[in-house]
Amino acid sequence: DPVAKIAAVGGARHPSIPLPRDLFGPDGHRNSEGLDLSDRGVLARTVAVVNAPLDVRPGADPGTAGRRTDKTDRQIVGEAVSRTRAALPAWAATPVDERAATIERLADLLEEDRDRLMAICVQEARKSIPDAIGEVREAADFCRYYARQARQGLQPIELPGPTGERNTLHLDGRGVWATIAPWNFPLAIFLGQTVAALVTGNTVVAKPAPQTPAIAARAVELAHKAGVPSDALVLVPGGPEIGQALMEDVRIAGVAFTGSTGTAKRIARTLLADDERPIVPLIAETGGINAMIVDSTALPEQVVADVITSAFRSAGQRCSALRLLLVQEDVAEGVLAMLAGAMDTLRVGDPGDPANDVGPVVDRAAYDRLMTFRESVRDRWVKTVDVPAEGLFVPPTLIRLGGIDDLKQEWFGPLLHVATWKAGELSETVRRVNAKGFGLTMGLHSRIARAGEVVEAEARVGNLYVNRSMIGAVVGSQPFGGEGLSGTGPKAGGPHYLYRFVAERAVSVDT
Ligand code: SER
Repeated sequence: DPVAKIAAVGGARHPSIPLPRDLFGPDGHRNSEGLDLSDRGVLARTVAVVNAPLDVRPGADPGTAGRRTDKTDRQIVGEAVSRTRAALPAWAATPVDERAATIERLADLLEEDRDRLMAICVQEARKSIPDAIGEVREAADFCRYYARQARQGLQPIELPGPTGERNTLHLDGRGVWATIAPWNFPLAIFLGQTVAALVTGNTVVAKPAPQTPAIAARAVELAHKAGVPSDALVLVPGGPEIGQALMEDVRIAGVAFTGSTGTAKRIARTLLADDERPIVPLIAETGGINAMIVDSTALPEQVVADVITSAFRSAGQRCSALRLLLVQEDVAEGVLAMLAGAMDTLRVGDPGDPANDVGPVVDRAAYDRLMTFRESVRDRWVKTVDVPAEGLFVPPTLIRLGGIDDLKQEWFGPLLHVATWKAGELSETVRRVNAKGFGLTMGLHSRIARAGEVVEAEARVGNLYVNRSMIGAVVGSQPFGGEGLSGTGPKAGGPHYLYRFVAERAVSVDT
């Protein structure tokens, strides 16, 4: 009985953290609000809802996701871009306050529709129940945060000049944006990118990941219900061919992409290939070989809890997830023994059962890739755990490295590599992590202030987490995104994100 199992654990794993209220105005911080899974009644209802049979096939929501098979990818994309271009003048002319109010209505609708959205996240994306709650909360947070940022930040700015001259800087939408979303945050990132483009006065052609079209279709339906004109936001579900056709459409004025580094580079090449084509902004958020550095002063119990969360929650399928654990040699044996013990308590199984800590990976291709690699390093396993025989469950596995430099790629699943470093080599350790070229998240566990200063000064990452887990960036509190091979910035959920979506136009008038 999953209800009894989770009740035994209580709500301790889902604390409601009070955060500053002024981030989101009088309503307070939405990321801290959710379902109280320690309440047996709420939990039983949630389990029933997310597991109730639901049609999550592409096109299950009529009118939004339906693919017409008689058309080529280029035709589907061409029509979508034409529609969003036609919708542009009216939407761009809509006052920013009105656009923001529409996006805030969308946040309300997301919360009203929470149960269904969670159910689609669990059934289509194989999200765990806590992750599905997080998806809806983060999506609503992005809506409210960007709406607020737009109201405050997009007003025309009067600039100084000599007497008789008026100088004004206007911030206008750029045109039709393409947003391309990943399957691992099929609601939150899909909508975050999309509402940022909309609220700044652009129209959007949105392409969800091929694995998660139904949740995107529902989100678009709610956006239209909230008041986004149906032609201002058009969904084009499909695979890489649709994405390629979209990137080749020279009418696109900007691209917001989250996914792999390889795809980001392909997009950049496509956008730049044609000499005649305008130069347009690309916002790319990609992956990372994210390291956590643990020194001999760290509290082992806390390290272990944070490693478990960072490496294995969401089956390691977060771009922020911990991939490389670097423990100071002197304490490595004790820390790894404790970590192995904690891994024994992980429960792997059906994501719709809230007693499970780790669910399946997203699809067969990901499963095969991860399992083939895992098998190839069998002689270096430090620890692995049992998983159900049926299903796409990759066993959480700790893998020993000869040295830091041996890990050369991101493995997007519950596989954690571990290496050691010697006392006095903190700077050198950071340098070797930096040298991998990625720069998304890094963790440090240490109780020495100087160690924190060194890592803060030297780590080339977008998000540094000290003495805590490395996942779950909160909109408005931890602006998220990396540098180098991990992405272009600006950071999602941060105060500068919207500015990449606008064109600045300075007007000088001789009065
Ligand atoms: N924003 C997510 C996190 O911080 C990753 O995409 O975990």
